[in-house]
Amino acid sequence: PASSSRILRGAIVDCLDDPAIAGESAVRYFEDGLLWIKDGRVHAVGTAGELAARLPANVDIEDRRGGLLVPGLIDTHTHYPQLSVAGSPSGSLFEWLERRAFPAESALAQPGLAEVMAHRFIAEMLRNGTTTAMVFAGVQPESADAFFQHAQHLGLRMVAGKVLQDRMVPEALREAPEQTLEATDRLIQRWHGRDRLAYALTPRFAPACSEMLLSQCRDWLRQSPSLYLQTHLAETEEECDRVAKLFPRDRGYLDLYDRFGFLRAGTIFAHAIYLQADEQRRLGESGAAVAHCPSSNLLLGSGLMPLRALQDTDVLLSVGTDVGAGPSCSVLKTLADAIRVQQLRGEPMGMLQAFYLATLGGARALKLEQQIGSFRVGNEADFLVLDLEATPELAERTARANSLEELMGLLILLGDDRLVVEVNIQGRRLIPVGA
Ligand code: GUN
Ligand code: ZN
Repeated sequence: PASSSRILRGAIVDCLDDPAIAGESAVRYFEDGLLWIKDGRVHAVGTAGELAARLPANVDIEDRRGGLLVPGLIDTHTHYPQLSVAGSPSGSLFEWLERRAFPAESALAQPGLAEVMAHRFIAEMLRNGTTTAMVFAGVQPESADAFFQHAQHLGLRMVAGKVLQDRMVPEALREAPEQTLEATDRLIQRWHGRDRLAYALTPRFAPACSEMLLSQCRDWLRQSPSLYLQTHLAETEEECDRVAKLFPRDRGYLDLYDRFGFLRAGTIFAHAIYLQADEQRRLGESGAAVAHCPSSNLLLGSGLMPLRALQDTDVLLSVGTDVGAGPSCSVLKTLADAIRVQQLRGEPMGMLQAFYLATLGGARALKLEQQIGSFRVGNEADFLVLDLEATPELAERTARANSLEELMGLLILLGDDRLVVEVNIQGRRLIPVGA
């Protein structure tokens, strides 16, 4: 196309800060807004009235009135090979790992299956409005290649890594140390910082990693501080007990990860349910982030995450679908579960707060606030158009919503993938294709 400029008109909402801290003013809303994109980035955003004067003459304005423009959703914890077992609960964490997760990850050794699963997974994320995710691939290096390759092809901003593990898991999912070293070095070389991709060291969790493997992660982080790291932390009480037995010299689960240098900006811990008050405090000071995965926690019966306590200790918070313990790639449904979990705890979460977790919160957790997560001028234009009339009840109710809080609540609690009618990546429409 001759011009790389686009201007869309519709309702627009994004977060410029955390509403739990900054209040309602953290959320920006233009009922009749314009989003002006140039060269794949946000050039200007504002009310249609204000911006109209600045527009070039005879410019084509794409009419999305009746739609709500939001930043692409960010899913900070998920496992792509486990899509094939999503929605098959089976006991609590360790039983489920044995019966569902490990077989699904072993299957990736079949030639061609990693490509198939990576394509399926990315299609499913996009269909649900997720434009950036932090993703566990399988243990097989080729499974990470398959994911990165397809993400690169679509121009997506993604963080992923191959799983590191050398105990507890079936023989077929273990690697020799030299092989791990060589494969991970190669993947970092090939993908970290390439286009919009970044590499995450991915030690599964302490029970599946020897001291040697965890030390290796520490060495990689020292060599390449820009690497991400993703792992699981304190998801179930049984897991915490097991860690205490396996690592008796550490005072606790967080101390153990601290000993290997994991408490740093750029690390995302999934779950973090069972932490002591001092551990929550240290997590907040460290700059490491937490992916809250309520749908997974409910289905595995892991527990109710004390989100408020983590918020009060300044922990960077975000949400993860945790597929396949979580049943779907839908961040909206995951937010609905987050609302339910906090209700059960007697510490209700606001709807704007939930929206923040899935947009700017995710971007901050990933240190990508200057790239994605809001319509800040200069940010990459990954955004969705949500159809406020996607279902008869949504049409009825959103038309009558009295506040932004209420509107967001309707989208989160009544909405699903039907809301997501358009997905744009770097200003270009990816869904619907060719429309
Ligand atoms: N802990 C270690 N591995 C996993 C996994 O694959 N899923 C979840 N939910 N927890 C884990
Ligand atoms: Zn997980």
